[in-house]
Amino acid sequence: MEASGKFICRQRQVVLFFVLLGLSQAGMEPRRYSVVEETEGSSFVTNLAKDLGLGQRELSKRGARVISKGNKLHLKLDQETGDLLLNEKLDREELCGHTDPCVLRFQVLLENPLQFFQAELQVIDINDHSPVFVDRDMLLKISESSPPGTTFPLKNAQDVDVGRNNIETYIISPNSYFRVLTRKSSDGSRYPELVLDKALDREQEPELRLTLTAQDGGSPPRSGIAQINIEVVDINDNAPEFEQSLYRVKIPEDSPIGFLIVTVSATDADIGVNGEISYSLFQASEEICKTFEINSMTGEIRLKKQLDFERIQFYEVNIEARDSGSFSGKCTVLTQVLDVNDNAPEITMSAFTRHIPENSPEAMVAVLSVSDLDSEENGKINCTIQDDLPFLLKSSLENFYTLVTERPLDRESQAEYNITITVTDLGTPRLKTQHNITVTVSDVNDNAPAFSQTTYTLRVRENNSPALHIVALASVSSLFLFSVLVFVAVRLCRRSRAASAGRCSGPEGHFPGHLVDVSGAGTLSQSYQYEGHSPGPEIEENANFRNDFGFSIQ
Ligand SMILES: *[C@@H]1O[C@H](CO)[C@@H](O)[C@H](O)[C@H]1NC(C)=O
Ligand SMILES: *[C@@H]1O[C@H](CO)[C@@H](O)[C@H](O)[C@H]1NC(C)=O
Ligand SMILES: *[C@@H]1O[C@H](CO)[C@@H](O)[C@H](O)[C@H]1NC(C)=O
Repeated sequence: MEASGKFICRQRQVVLFFVLLGLSQAGMEPRRYSVVEETEGSSFVTNLAKDLGLGQRELSKRGARVISKGNKLHLKLDQETGDLLLNEKLDREELCGHTDPCVLRFQVLLENPLQFFQAELQVIDINDHSPVFVDRDMLLKISESSPPGTTFPLKNAQDVDVGRNNIETYIISPNSYFRVLTRKSSDGSRYPELVLDKALDREQEPELRLTLTAQDGGSPPRSGIAQINIEVVDINDNAPEFEQSLYRVKIPEDSPIGFLIVTVSATDADIGVNGEISYSLFQASEEICKTFEINSMTGEIRLKKQLDFERIQFYEVNIEARDSGSFSGKCTVLTQVLDVNDNAPEITMSAFTRHIPENSPEAMVAVLSVSDLDSEENGKINCTIQDDLPFLLKSSLENFYTLVTERPLDRESQAEYNITITVTDLGTPRLKTQHNITVTVSDVNDNAPAFSQTTYTLRVRENNSPALHIVALASVSSLFLFSVLVFVAVRLCRRSRAASAGRCSGPEGHFPGHLVDVSGAGTLSQSYQYEGHSPGPEIEENANFRNDFGFSIQ
């Protein structure tokens, strides 16, 4: 406390001294000297003796001294020569900072008699400092939507030199988008301002690196640099675009539900949210909505509902890709449905005659049509019947056939035919359909009764009476009668056996054929033939004659 009190007291004395000094010198112009900063110490400033008009010895005689405000004395006086010299190297920036001009005031005191002279030493600036950017890396985010002419103030550089040696201009590295202006702020310092000359396009150039140079007006000039990194900020200015505007796909009609038909893909030049794409069916009909579905994220188009070539063979599906804004792109997927042999051929019978009279030269049995819903080979049909039958399939119109007899049929050799109509398509695998019909051959009276023996030999003794003929004939008749009786007995015995399960000693099964033939081939049968001429019923009865002996006796 005591020490600081003393110090303040001393200071006051000094101030008082200068006030007196000032008063004694009032009205006198100060003497002005100048020195360039950074001049070596002990350099000559002026010869005071000459300046003050004193003799060389007088200065020392009168006790001349140099006094300066403040603690530091930058000058010294050579008492002998009267030269005022620099005490040390002077740094203008240290002494005065940005104050311009930099003036150091001092007094020359002559003690005997007391006399003061006011003087000033101006320290002249040299260009010994370069401009420096505090921020050597600047990041600027500029929207690609900024219109040309938009300005962006940048951080300035600093130069401790003053006047011309301070920053004079800013320069930007050559580029096609920006130029830089040098602006003067209210405090007189200069700062750079970036001006956009041409619209930016993030999709073309997402970022720019520029070099900003600050240059002072010294001679030679000095400069400092900073990097400017410009990040072009995206706006949603691009529509999604499909890799292909047209996709062609072919898929078999039996493809399963969920089958991946195709994956469409679009890209958007914008980034982030602006580039996010969602896919959808565009202007889709109900049929298309039912048949196809698209994954809005991946663009995968899958089968939703089942294809049917026989119903629809071709689909034109429009797809839209939309970004988060209002931009969208379109593409088309042409889907061709391929036929699969999934339909068997069909047979439709238009007409059918079940009973064909025998001996007809060419009788029509059936009229039929065949069809197959499939296309191409899958729908072509081959229509056949067994080839060992006396029937022919004749193709009339396309897919129409008539089934006719190949030659006159003979009921007596085959009375019934089973015909299998087979229709086969030519697809892979081959599908076939069969239709079975049974045709019966109806009888026509085309057979005359025939003797089982062409000759009968009868031995007759000579000289016999005519009655013997009758005896002979009667013996034949007796034989016949006996046969009939045996037959009837066998039948009766069978019937009673069926009733009582008793045994029968007669022949089993049908009556022996030769017995029937022999007996049936008599004159009775022959006379029957000649009696009637209507063919139908007589044939029927003939048949009965063979089967039922009793009837033929009548
Ligand atoms: C139709 O079927 C017949 C008999 O099976 C055969 O000979 C013929 O080659 C077939 N036609 C075609 C075109 O396959
Ligand atoms: C025809 O088919 C029927 C029934 O399948 C059969 O009873 C009959 O014997 C067959 N006829 C011929 C001549 O094959
Ligand atoms: C038609 O007849 C054939 C030969 O007898 C037989 O294999 C087939 O199963 C029959 N088809 C139909 C539909 O009855």
